[in-house]
Amino acid sequence: MTVVPYKEKQSGKKEQVAEMFNSISRKYDFLNHFLSLGIDILWRKKAIRLLKSDEPKEILDIATGTGDFAIESLRLNPDQVIGVDISEGMLEVGREKLKRKGLDDKIELRMGDSEKLLFDDNKFDAVIVSFGVRNFENLERGIADMYRVLKPGGKTVILEFSKPSKFPFKNIYNFYFKAILPKIGRLVSKDKAAYTYLPESVQAFPDGKNFLKVLEKVGFKNTRCKPLTFGISSIYIGEK
Ligand SMILES: C[S@@+](CC[C@H](N)C(=O)[O-])C[C@H]1O[C@@H](n2cnc3c(N)ncnc32)[C@H](O)[C@@H]1O
Repeated sequence: MTVVPYKEKQSGKKEQVAEMFNSISRKYDFLNHFLSLGIDILWRKKAIRLLKSDEPKEILDIATGTGDFAIESLRLNPDQVIGVDISEGMLEVGREKLKRKGLDDKIELRMGDSEKLLFDDNKFDAVIVSFGVRNFENLERGIADMYRVLKPGGKTVILEFSKPSKFPFKNIYNFYFKAILPKIGRLVSKDKAAYTYLPESVQAFPDGKNFLKVLEKVGFKNTRCKPLTFGISSIYIGEK
């Protein structure tokens, strides 16, 4: 069953996800760093470092949101970084951030759907996504379009929440993630569903080996998975 943020509504997952991120966009960055105690920043850094030796010149950041992964990718010294997202609210916060940091000439943020990317085949040296794939309405279609726009020899690096499996960390973490985090998220964001959707969507996501199978099915080679921080998140890598 597809997990959606607003179960009482009839609209599809994509529409609901865009609505939800529009609703929480102004609080998103704060809540991200607060609820993860800042570890999300380290995870993005670690993921981007995996592309260092590839020296990608053209990078596409899918589900860029407020642009944090795109900003981190500037460490690779690329010629061009484009970020796409289906939430205009998130992009707006991202554009303001880029302007504040003086990075608006280095990164372009555009409206764009992962399942229908408006780019030619074989365009990018690297296609990256952080905490986005779990939100795709059609996961395989999104991953297939990422493969299409990647150059042969190019690499994808995907960061996503996963499910810790080892006792007792798993139990402590689940209590935090399912009982505490939704309450704080709801209080701060004022969105009744967004931070309940977060653990639910993580639970429903095919993590670890199952996600590698999706990557392989659309054509990615040399796929691998690196669990981070007891498996709370994982980095997935694939090559075209
Ligand atoms: C949790 S945020 C992650 C934002 C950013 N990458 C980060 O690391 O903070 C997920 C983002 O995925 C976007 N998203 C979901 N489905 C998408 C799709 N089909 N195409 C593009 N963006 C999508 C949402 O609008 C949202 O901004």
